[in-house]
Amino acid sequence: MLISSLLVFTALSVSNVFAGQVPIVDGVLGGVPTGASVPGETTREALTIAATTPGKLRVTENSGICETTPGVYQASGYGDLTSTKSIWFWFFAARKNPSTAPVALWFNGGPGSSSMIGLFQEHGPCRINNDTKTVSLNPYSWNNEVNMLYIDQPVGVGFSHGDLDVGTSQAAAADVWSFLQIFFKDSRFSKYQPNDLAIWTESYGGHYGPTFAAHILKQNAAIAAGSVSGLKLNLEVLGIGNGLTDPLSQYPGYIEYAASNPYHALVSSSVINTATNAWSSSSGCKAKITTCYNGGSNSVCSSAQSYCNNYILSPLAGNYDVYYVPTRNPDPYPPAISTYLASIRTAAGAEASYVESNSKVYSNFAATGDWMRNSRPDLETVINAGVRTLIFDGDADYIVNYVGVEAMVDALNTQFTATYKQQPWSTYTVEGQAAGQYKNAGTFSYMRVYGAGHEVPAYKYGKLAYGQAASQMFLQTMSKKPLTST
Ligand SMILES: *[C@@H]1O[C@H](CO)[C@@H](O)[C@H](O)[C@H]1NC(C)=O
Repeated sequence: MLISSLLVFTALSVSNVFAGQVPIVDGVLGGVPTGASVPGETTREALTIAATTPGKLRVTENSGICETTPGVYQASGYGDLTSTKSIWFWFFAARKNPSTAPVALWFNGGPGSSSMIGLFQEHGPCRINNDTKTVSLNPYSWNNEVNMLYIDQPVGVGFSHGDLDVGTSQAAAADVWSFLQIFFKDSRFSKYQPNDLAIWTESYGGHYGPTFAAHILKQNAAIAAGSVSGLKLNLEVLGIGNGLTDPLSQYPGYIEYAASNPYHALVSSSVINTATNAWSSSSGCKAKITTCYNGGSNSVCSSAQSYCNNYILSPLAGNYDVYYVPTRNPDPYPPAISTYLASIRTAAGAEASYVESNSKVYSNFAATGDWMRNSRPDLETVINAGVRTLIFDGDADYIVNYVGVEAMVDALNTQFTATYKQQPWSTYTVEGQAAGQYKNAGTFSYMRVYGAGHEVPAYKYGKLAYGQAASQMFLQTMSKKPLTST
């Protein structure tokens, strides 16, 4: 076990890219580390941390960090799943009417990336400045009218700490559900349990979002039937930005987007041709993903990830920033947050040092091939159950680009799909400024966001401010309304 652990560790050469959520492994974006093996067998993080309280929260209230609006409650800390598994969270009460406002959970992707990225680079009460050391209050914070709960998961990510035994989205869902039970049982937060609950996520969240949402619905049904004991979670909304949900729909999108997108071609036509061949040849990427979908083992799905990311995802990126293609690689925006987080760690009550992207967690997922599994069936379940769903995609992002995401949306088989496909595109305006194009069908909406990279709320477009378009889209969806231009 120790030997394979060392192998995993030394085989990983993970580059630090700005805003990077997906690691570069041995030169391959989203590659599979040599010697990656299923979790539980390889990785245990040494714990030298203070006493945990299994089944309970440990909380630092009103640290004064980030949210400086007078009278707005905040709390950061840990939910201890066991004595050796602690999940980090950061809660910001809504700036307006928190007692009746819904609660939105936020998860970044990776797998292995911290949700502090979303908090400090995208839509939190404050945003990191270009100096990477200070923050500014965010007027378009998602906590303006919603109680926001940022969660670092699985264990080992961000400020979370403990056993690294999660290597699938399904296992991650079980831990998130357990964490939420602890959170809503706590006397400080039980008052929010009857309010509407939402899941918002991005990137690898195209897997996390549908899996977590479907798991919550399943647990609610089991609670109602008396076979599971716990608190019902009032899941009403799911939002997924630039999410990898259905790889079979997504991978042809890399070829099309690299050749043609609103900005510029990313690579030469000979690179496009080579990748096209890697997609469609008899033992190519399409065949490998299809075998994975048809009950493929961990190793089958893992080798599909390795092949497709080696021969399609990675080479087609060219020299542009994969998270924002208008700029060369690497784009210094959004500014890095690690220096700032180290400076506020103790005051916020965090015990572990900050790990923005945990390569061991990533490796655990790579070993099970979770990346290449299809989360579209779970998404269909959630949409058909009446959970209002918004899928959106920034048009300047390559890594989970809109071409592939729109193919996934068109492939959905739900009660709203026929209506969706009959809709023409409408221009989405924010205070009269065009900001994207969208379709609504029943409780489902999709929006392509103009000028936004992978982290949609971090960008601005036209005369709008940073995050302004994302804030409008978020608030309309949280009010359980279709997208509407203003
Ligand atoms: C921060 O840097 C980005 C480029 O990375 C630039 O576009 C932006 O104007 C800068 N912001 C400020 C406030 O200087």
